[in-house]
Amino acid sequence: MSINITSLLNNIMLARALFVAAELDIAEHLSQQPMTAAQLAQVSNTDKDSLERLMHFLTLHEVFAKDSENKYHTTDFSTTMCANHPATIKPFLLHDDETRWNAFGNLVYSIKTGKASFDMLYGQTYFDYLKKHPQLSARFDQAMTIISNQEDEIIAKIISFYGTIADIGGGKGQLITNIMKNNSHVTGILFDLPQVIQHHNADFLGKKVAGSFFEPLPLTADIFILKRILHDWHDEKALQILKNVSTAMNNNSKLYIIDGILDHAQDKKLLAAIDLALLTIFQGKERTLQEITHLVHKAGLEIVRIIHINEIMSAIECKKTK
Ligand SMILES: C[S@@+](CC[C@H](N)C(=O)[O-])C[C@H]1O[C@@H](n2cnc3c(N)ncnc32)[C@H](O)[C@@H]1O
Repeated sequence: MSINITSLLNNIMLARALFVAAELDIAEHLSQQPMTAAQLAQVSNTDKDSLERLMHFLTLHEVFAKDSENKYHTTDFSTTMCANHPATIKPFLLHDDETRWNAFGNLVYSIKTGKASFDMLYGQTYFDYLKKHPQLSARFDQAMTIISNQEDEIIAKIISFYGTIADIGGGKGQLITNIMKNNSHVTGILFDLPQVIQHHNADFLGKKVAGSFFEPLPLTADIFILKRILHDWHDEKALQILKNVSTAMNNNSKLYIIDGILDHAQDKKLLAAIDLALLTIFQGKERTLQEITHLVHKAGLEIVRIIHINEIMSAIECKKTK
């Protein structure tokens, strides 16, 4: 396969331009009424000529449309960039802010050292940084909810849930809520950091327990879930999380590790791209089945089966080793 190197910049600038349009509320302004570049520059407090260049680029990508009177409109896509759209993508676009771009831009540091370039640039881990930046933290949690939207619905339907389900690092509680909606007889527990679970989704069902998965877990359950958790951490930390879950499990408990598996995923290129992003931001990693098996065994667990979720995600069912 050959790569057209001159078109690489296209995707880089498209990702950045979408962020800027979201940051400047361009879709919201245009959803009020179509506007010329001059009108849009006035309401968005921007330089007219520069904004026109941004709009020209985004119009070529059909993010916005331009009519014969040189007025810009929203398209089906950019309607979803409005914060009040029921399926808004705005928090997802906004969570990829300059801190993450700076981390991606310093990938060479991560490749040389094996460490997160984010930590080198900002002197702290990404999750510690989020703790001190509530707006970005809210965007990150909402972005995770958006990314997880479809997979959470699938997981709630294809895995048979019973008893008490604990979603460890469950964010705003979308998965637990989906599971409880599809399985009326189960009890759901959302476990996450205190500053995260206080902002649970409006339709949240279940109980909330605040804490850190690096401490012994103050709960037990029939089914534990770790979704998009282990890939945020290097092996030593991932093992600590697994050991804490393993200790909280009873002999019949199940654990579903729901993550990408590098050598199983259908879309291996996307998973490999996520893997590099995880390295720069968290010193995290996507893992092969062998790497996951190794960690699982060290935590006193064994893999029972693997359930396909979507083109990148799988649920790895584990039980305690007898
Ligand atoms: C990548 S998000 C995944 C969220 C959710 N499981 C999902 O799939 O959408 C990682 C989650 O881990 C949580 N987290 C990070 N550090 C934690 C800790 N020490 N203890 C508990 N949760 C933590 C974050 O707050 C966040 O909700």
